[in-house]
Amino acid sequence: MKIAIIGGGYVGLVSAACFAEFGVEVAVAETDPSRLNRLLAGEMPIYEPGLEALVASNRAAGRLSFTGALPEAIAGAEAVFIAVGTPSRRGGGHADLTYVFAAAEQVLRALDHPAVLVTKSTVPVGTGRKLAALAAQLRPDLAIEVASNPEFLREGSAIGDFMRPDRVVVGAETEHARTILRALYRPLNLIETPILMTGLETAELIKYAANAFLAMKVTFINEMADLCESVGADVHDVARGMGLDGRIGRKFLHPGPGFGGSCFPKDTLALARIAQDARAPSRLTEAVVAVNEARKAGLGRRIIDAAAIDLRGKRIAILGLAFKPETDDMRDSPAIPAIEALAETGATIIAYDPAAMAAAKPLLPGSIQFAETASQAIAGADLLVVMTEWNEFRALAPARLAQAMPGRVIVDLRNIFDPAAMRAAGFVYHGVGRGSRPTGDATVDPETDEDQ
Ligand code: UDX
Repeated sequence: MKIAIIGGGYVGLVSAACFAEFGVEVAVAETDPSRLNRLLAGEMPIYEPGLEALVASNRAAGRLSFTGALPEAIAGAEAVFIAVGTPSRRGGGHADLTYVFAAAEQVLRALDHPAVLVTKSTVPVGTGRKLAALAAQLRPDLAIEVASNPEFLREGSAIGDFMRPDRVVVGAETEHARTILRALYRPLNLIETPILMTGLETAELIKYAANAFLAMKVTFINEMADLCESVGADVHDVARGMGLDGRIGRKFLHPGPGFGGSCFPKDTLALARIAQDARAPSRLTEAVVAVNEARKAGLGRRIIDAAAIDLRGKRIAILGLAFKPETDDMRDSPAIPAIEALAETGATIIAYDPAAMAAAKPLLPGSIQFAETASQAIAGADLLVVMTEWNEFRALAPARLAQAMPGRVIVDLRNIFDPAAMRAAGFVYHGVGRGSRPTGDATVDPETDEDQ
């Protein structure tokens, strides 16, 4: 089978490489010339573990190709996936569908055979129906079917998520479209992945509902973490105690600086707007958006209060800039407002991130310095702030930190360190939601970390 994917961005590229790995012939149409040239040269425009090798091997096997010519990509394709961006529209939070409709129109005009037009981008409920109307209007001569196949990939583990998903959701209303989508995901039958067949609107809503629910879990545990700090409880034990209830589940109960990234902030806001427009407002989703925004806006103050030292002329080391580990993505990263606020204290700020420094530089105040290694950032620091839980930071031994840092304050916004060990090494240690009263087990549970 041959398929085309419109858009060689994050979702398009990962999906293309993985479908090719499943044995499908995949042509990717990418209109941005510089991105296309990089792809043709075998360079990945995004950082995603394992992607470069997967792209290279499938190109070598002749199953994966990139082109700037959309008609060439869709020639003979039984399904055409639209995987272009859907950013938040300025001033309101509705998803901007300009790129989706522009891509769909180009595809429809160029098609010379019937095909299934599939949205992979996260699109507001009702978009599939509009695309079907557009297809009927532009190409009454062809039997074009529209389907929705939302992705649930996490950055940093996108390939594994695609190859071993918890489920695949397909919104399709004809047997032919369902058959094509089922065939594409056939290798997943071996691992008994549920393939959920629904209507168009339902599939579109599942994606938003799933992301908003996860964002709500994170936001809830963040609030509980603050409460833990006030009452002297330990949020890790609270999360564990809650999560062991199978109805709640342990995942996405790790407190931190607030969620960021390309999906949660944009999708929660869009869902809130969709629900308002549909006159069925989701007050919970609206609250999640507001609570998370406030948390990120207050991070600087939180760090300054926790440090409880005059930061003027001091040296602050920031470990981690990306919104989460294993990615160079800075979109809506909590590190941005935190560093902006810290920059105003008159401290010298030295930041380090294993992957995101190039992406971070243009987004941060010009006064920020960047270190080449974590050790370099820490050397001579008075205050250490952990923003992102990269594994290499977890490995920093308390004694080594104590040796490198003349100051003795750590604000660990991801709870990667053992508070007792840090305190034993002489640090004033602040985690998130780890009240000072003694608990049974204050160490970070590796399983809880895995749950992120
Ligand atoms: C998310 C969804 O998980 C994925 O299904 C969807 O397709 C895209 O959005 P992603 O944005 O890559 O994926 O990251 P994810 O690992 O879900 O983390 C989202 C944010 O929540 C990050 O800022 C992360 O740090 C935060 N988070 C997550 C927590 O603070 N605590 C947790 O327990 C889990």
